[in-house]
Amino acid sequence: MSRLPASHESELAGYDWSLLKASGLVERVEYLPSVGSTNDFAREQAGSLSRGERLLVVAERQTAGRGRGGNRWWTGGGSLAFSLLFDPAQRNIARRHYPMISLAAALAVIDTAALIAGRTDVGLHWPNDVFLSGRKLAGVLIEALADGRHLLGIGCNVHNRSAEAPPELADIVISLADVTPLAPSRGDVLLGIVRRLDERLGDLAHFHEIIGQRANQMCLQHGAKLTIRAGTRETSGICAGIAADGALLLDTVNGRQSFYSGVLVK
Ligand code: BTN
Repeated sequence: MSRLPASHESELAGYDWSLLKASGLVERVEYLPSVGSTNDFAREQAGSLSRGERLLVVAERQTAGRGRGGNRWWTGGGSLAFSLLFDPAQRNIARRHYPMISLAAALAVIDTAALIAGRTDVGLHWPNDVFLSGRKLAGVLIEALADGRHLLGIGCNVHNRSAEAPPELADIVISLADVTPLAPSRGDVLLGIVRRLDERLGDLAHFHEIIGQRANQMCLQHGAKLTIRAGTRETSGICAGIAADGALLLDTVNGRQSFYSGVLVK
């Protein structure tokens, strides 16, 4: 049930659905000119799909794109917004490593953006934002369904320029078009991310510490003073990077503490 458009917009964006389907993560594709949120759409579809079916939802526009913690996500025209529905158990990922899926996704985006933009100043801003030149390039929203399947939503600023962003975002976001003379096609960015994510999920299944180590290398907050809210508790300390098991390490007045989830307050 691929709703593949003979869409003009899709052709312009350079999406190659058959190459995407050749990756281990994509079996079905839904391309939507406009949707509220690709994560919400994928969740609705999940009920009518069998557990093992892998779905990719790509939207040209989102009218209610969501970020973590109930934040809104700006899907400027020309940005890349997509969600993947998949079952981590079918990828042989141990349940205790599910929290590392978002790190694997951020690494896939980092490596794709660094290669495409020819930049080295791309990295991980915990928990799973991708920063380029000190500004937010991409974000990851992971949601688990009751049956264990996961919705992995990624938004990446490709052709949408920071100057076109809402005023409150203009100084804190960046796009690939802002830093490259010839902005890449969204199809190339999507394919690069999906292929790398497929590889990183393979790492996570068999050598999860590779993901932790690589996330530590790419972590941009080493040595920074951070405050993290986990539940109702806020903890401040100096970031000591990311452990092999994916935990963020904070050196606090009470010693080193590990965070597997939480909200970065500052
Ligand atoms: C964040 O930075 O807080 C995460 C942003 C995730 C945005 C993507 S865009 C595609 C998918 N659909 C959504 O509604 N959100 C994610």
